[in-house]
Amino acid sequence: MPPEDYWRELRRICDRYGVLLASDDIICGFGRLGHWFGFERVGAEPDIVTFAKGVTSAYVPLGGMIVRRPLVDGLLDSPVATFTHGATFGGHPVATAVAVANITALREERIPEHVLELEPYFRAGLDELALKHRSVKEVRGAGFLYGLELAPDRDTSREFTPSEKVEVCGRVLPDAMARAGLFTRADDRGPAMLMLAPPLVADRTVLDDLFTMVDSALSELDEWVAKNVKA
Ligand SMILES: Cc1ncc(COP(=O)(O)O)c(C=O)c1O
Repeated sequence: MPPEDYWRELRRICDRYGVLLASDDIICGFGRLGHWFGFERVGAEPDIVTFAKGVTSAYVPLGGMIVRRPLVDGLLDSPVATFTHGATFGGHPVATAVAVANITALREERIPEHVLELEPYFRAGLDELALKHRSVKEVRGAGFLYGLELAPDRDTSREFTPSEKVEVCGRVLPDAMARAGLFTRADDRGPAMLMLAPPLVADRTVLDDLFTMVDSALSELDEWVAKNVKA
């Protein structure tokens, strides 16, 4: 998570130097962080927003871009500029109709508000798991999007070696998660992370199920670390 003032400061610097600020809301938009757009959470209005995934709740593929009107007008009115973009199925009416239906459902069922209401419950459950499992170094995220950073022992600065990380994210956790019935991603691109992004309609019962499954996968990880990782 960025520090409290990070985005406001970005906005200030961009305004000062005439730079456009873009918010990539492809993951964070449409309720994932408890708001329609992730940037609402961080208190800075961008000039451009990209979005995809949640706009249709992924029932059909659609991605898009929102641009401040004066920027679009500047482009359309320019005698020299063209905005060259095109894809075979760009702007397909079926995908956009699904987006309208999905946004209507999100609004009527108050899904962003639901996520914001349950965020403290989700966070508290993850914090409890982190306390219980030595292999969880940090819990990071917001709304219904969290990552658990993993390490051999949260009380030391020892990280997983590259080969341990491949083993943890490529075998130990995927096998443990398959046994627990949990479908999510163990990510080894930076520090080893367990990514958690429950369905936005998840209620306490669903989150409780998720905690049970994550608990079981982390217990297997703790055991693997105890046997295989030297301090
Ligand atoms: C934050 C973020 N930005 C951009 C992208 C790329 O989006 P697309 O696959 O629609 O080009 C992704 C894809 O996962 C993403 O997660």
